Amino acid sequence: MNLQNIKRIAVLTSGGDAPGMNATIRAVVRACTFYKIDCFGVFRGFQGLIEGDLKQMGPRDVKYIISKGGTILKSARSKEFMTLEGRKKAYETLQKNQIDALIVIGGDGSFTGALMLSVEFNFPVIGIPGTIDNDIFGTSHTIGYDTALNTIIDVVDKIRDTATSHKRIFFVEVMGRDAGFVALNSGIGIGAEAILIPEENIGLPKLLENLKRSKASGKSSCIVIVAEGEKSGKNVYELSNYVEENLPEYDVRVSVIGHIQRGGAPSCFDRVLASRSGVAAVEALLKGEKNIMIGLQNDLIAYTPLEKAIKEHAQIDKELIRISDILAV
Ligand code: F6P
Repeated sequence: MNLQNIKRIAVLTSGGDAPGMNATIRAVVRACTFYKIDCFGVFRGFQGLIEGDLKQMGPRDVKYIISKGGTILKSARSKEFMTLEGRKKAYETLQKNQIDALIVIGGDGSFTGALMLSVEFNFPVIGIPGTIDNDIFGTSHTIGYDTALNTIIDVVDKIRDTATSHKRIFFVEVMGRDAGFVALNSGIGIGAEAILIPEENIGLPKLLENLKRSKASGKSSCIVIVAEGEKSGKNVYELSNYVEENLPEYDVRVSVIGHIQRGGAPSCFDRVLASRSGVAAVEALLKGEKNIMIGLQNDLIAYTPLEKAIKEHAQIDKELIRISDILAV
């Protein structure tokens, strides 16, 4: 490894926080210590970089954070960084502090900003995907996704108890931004009677058919997992009204799980993924890599050019849709 060129690294978290971001920060800081590199934590994402809000961190600064949700570096979605002026200020902070490379933990919006900074100022950046949405090309898992799924199944299992007691249909809205990974996988995990995701519009008639089929087969409750946004042309409340109008004999309720999905202690899977990714990011820089994203492919660490990670779209596994349909009989 070429230890000569990289002497100072900065790390930041950006966009929506995700469980496991802290474990990733810890891994970056400790890998830096191991390789005798100075590590600076930047607070409040790119906004903090613009404002020069950073401090040097050592291995004891990240003690016990492996088990903590959120991000000790805080996060932000910086409007100023979306301007060239803002990115110039951010670059000046990096220069002033003699930082040689930047590690960005976040989602595709954060990677877009990071890549712009890198191209405009010829500055090396590495992305680590940290988002509950799992919507990043080049990795099978983003950090935080597994924990969010576990949180959702915990919550929806509880909803199932009350739904069954009252023979109700529940529409449960989960996060995922524009993607259905969270809905599809949590839906299978809780044994949903129907799953509505943006990638596959099953249509309202099919939804009614599924619900009638469930009742006819003797089920005492129905859970419909709905990815946030307007699925089948309707949001979760409109969907529930539509079902109430068309199946008046059904008792329908709505639960929007919300930001609970983003909090809590990371799962073991996310802690391990975060640990591997943080070390891999530092080692990639030492190997002379830049402008790449660290991902997981077939359970191995893989590099994807940041540009590709941003431009391409992660694909839903259609096989899971087929399975969920079979299992909803
Ligand atoms: O990207 C993570 C995410 O939690 C999405 O699932 C959701 O659409 C969005 O962030 C919510 O953002 P905010 O916290 O700004 O409401």
